[in-house]
Amino acid sequence: MRKKIAAANWKMNCTYQQGEQLLTEILSSNIALNDHQEAVFAVPFPYLTMAAEKTGGRKGYAIAAQNCYNKKSGAYTGEVSAEMLKSINIPYCLVGHSERREYFQESNQMLAEKIDLLLANGIIPIFCCGEPLEIREAGTQNSFVAKQLEESLFHLSPEAVAGIVIAYEPIWAIGTGKTASAAQAQEIHAYLRSVLAGKYGQAIADTIPVLYGGSVKGSNAQELFSCPDVDGGLVGGASLNAEEFSTIIKSLP
Ligand code: PGA
Repeated sequence: MRKKIAAANWKMNCTYQQGEQLLTEILSSNIALNDHQEAVFAVPFPYLTMAAEKTGGRKGYAIAAQNCYNKKSGAYTGEVSAEMLKSINIPYCLVGHSERREYFQESNQMLAEKIDLLLANGIIPIFCCGEPLEIREAGTQNSFVAKQLEESLFHLSPEAVAGIVIAYEPIWAIGTGKTASAAQAQEIHAYLRSVLAGKYGQAIADTIPVLYGGSVKGSNAQELFSCPDVDGGLVGGASLNAEEFSTIIKSLP
């Protein structure tokens, strides 16, 4: 069975103390996860070790970085490399969140480089893709997201691509309260899987978790996660509320 993942994306929110409190509250509900379920917390860099210590030893709980740089090492003041994340045992890293693409001009090519560095360091990339509103309104979302996959992932070997996670996040649904309907999510997730199958074969496409992101909350998680090609969610706003995110974790199939 494919992995089912509830991933929290804290973005640039919470002080250290607030983050610690939030994790304490979520972990205090002792939600047991089975072998194919995972709760992942993408926290700001300065909180990675704190979050890893707090979740350490809990089956199914893991930490993600929100970004890394697309160079190995060197004179890049202020940046964080995949190797640095590996050196503190971080298992996941978000790549290509739409906010990074928009505010930091991250191109598909740059994201391909980040993915290579992460995989070389044994870190699982959570590759984000998704279309803006004008593309959805024009009805060309499929070719838009297919191009994102092609340009950032299709250089990978079948073995490498089998080790990544994809998060489909329509930009028009991020932080807007406007969620894609379960039918819309299922349709494009199935399409993304068919694109992966076209390049790598159905067996590999079937192993890759595809998460949905964009205004996931406690009240809609179960419906979204019950779609056959939706393997959990990447959650922003609702992940900052312990009760909401706990409900989302519990909604994993
Ligand atoms: P949202 O953000 O849940 O607040 O819409 C999702 C994301 O950006 O990952």
